Amino acid sequence: MATEKWVFMVTAQTPTNIAVIKYWGKRDEVRILPVNDSISVTLDPDHLCTVTTVAVSPAFDRDRMWLNGKEISLSGSRYQNCLREIRSRAGDVEDKEKGVKIGKKDWDKLHLHIASHNNFPTAAGLASSAAGFACLVFSLAKLMNVDEDPSHLSAIARQGSGSACRSLFGGFVKWEMGSKDDGSDSVAVQLADEKHWDDLVIIIAVVSSQQKETSSTSGMRESVETSLLLQHRAKEVVPKRILQMEEAIKNRDFASFTQLTCTDSNQFHAVCLDTSPPIFYMNDTSHRIISLVEKWNRSEGTPQVAYTFDAGPNAVLIARNRKVAVQLLQGLLYYFPPKPDTDMKSYVVGDNSILKEAG
Ligand code: ADP
Ligand code: DP6
Ligand code: CO
Repeated sequence: MATEKWVFMVTAQTPTNIAVIKYWGKRDEVRILPVNDSISVTLDPDHLCTVTTVAVSPAFDRDRMWLNGKEISLSGSRYQNCLREIRSRAGDVEDKEKGVKIGKKDWDKLHLHIASHNNFPTAAGLASSAAGFACLVFSLAKLMNVDEDPSHLSAIARQGSGSACRSLFGGFVKWEMGSKDDGSDSVAVQLADEKHWDDLVIIIAVVSSQQKETSSTSGMRESVETSLLLQHRAKEVVPKRILQMEEAIKNRDFASFTQLTCTDSNQFHAVCLDTSPPIFYMNDTSHRIISLVEKWNRSEGTPQVAYTFDAGPNAVLIARNRKVAVQLLQGLLYYFPPKPDTDMKSYVVGDNSILKEAG
């Protein structure tokens, strides 16, 4: 390393992903190993995403991180595990112009500054932890010249937040729970890329951007400890659903896709209710959106829209095509008109890109 002061920086942008077969429950809290496989769809990186800049310099005296402009502590085990795993795989980095060479071993002595921004509500049930940790791991891997494929990086991101492992890939992604105790086979794999089913249009109705009362981490811990339905779901229900969902995605079978997506979301929220004390992530507006979609699908005779809700009240609506998406948006704006005194907002994501932001 040269003695003069220098800074190396990398910026990355990573999309969020929304599960259509949910992850809810860990068998290992430290390594973040799930009790079942899950499947998600990754949104377009230009829209609901995290942007993270990581910088290294001999001028930095300790690792520091800012999230949405506010300094946060990096002392938690999730951040520490990701930093350790990436540092241990760091390669050589050289900038001939600056006359700087960082050798593999130097990374242990150098400190990092990390600045991350989510362009959507944080900790509100829109998978900020997924985009956030995937982006952190990806940007650090680039900065430190880590030579690992996305599947290996997914196993590192998983140790930041389980759902993050699925954001390392676009399109439809499966997180395989794996069976090894060290978690090395608990990785994400791409089922189909973003072009495979590009008729689909995703609309996200932000019912509330408030931070949720129960984080996903503590919610699923309480469910594992108290819900019998969770045990039944993980062992008996999800394994079959995963196979059916893979088939539906492969065949672009919207009717099966909708049936599986909606049923799985509802069962996940039933597990939350079966938890003691019960956890309520959806609210009245969420329930009204479900009723609207259910009625519409029944009146059409064939499903037009799938709904799914993560650990929060916000609706993720997947329309079978652009025409249906426009009708759906009109319906949402009619039944749930955005008011200045609420933070209801609708985002439309189409052809893997946002058509319009309403509200
Ligand atoms: P969500 O439904 O948004 O994923 P979670 O409860 O799972 O909510 O996780 C929220 C937590 O994820 C935040 O409190 C923060 O610790 C972490 N997180 C969110 N965004 C980022 C980010 N961009 N970089 C690093 N960590 C993040
Ligand atoms: C409902 O990945 O946020 O969004 O692993 O504890 O960080 P931790 O939890 P997190 O849980 C996500 C739960 C979910 C479903 C899903 O994304 O599969
Ligand atoms: Co999360």
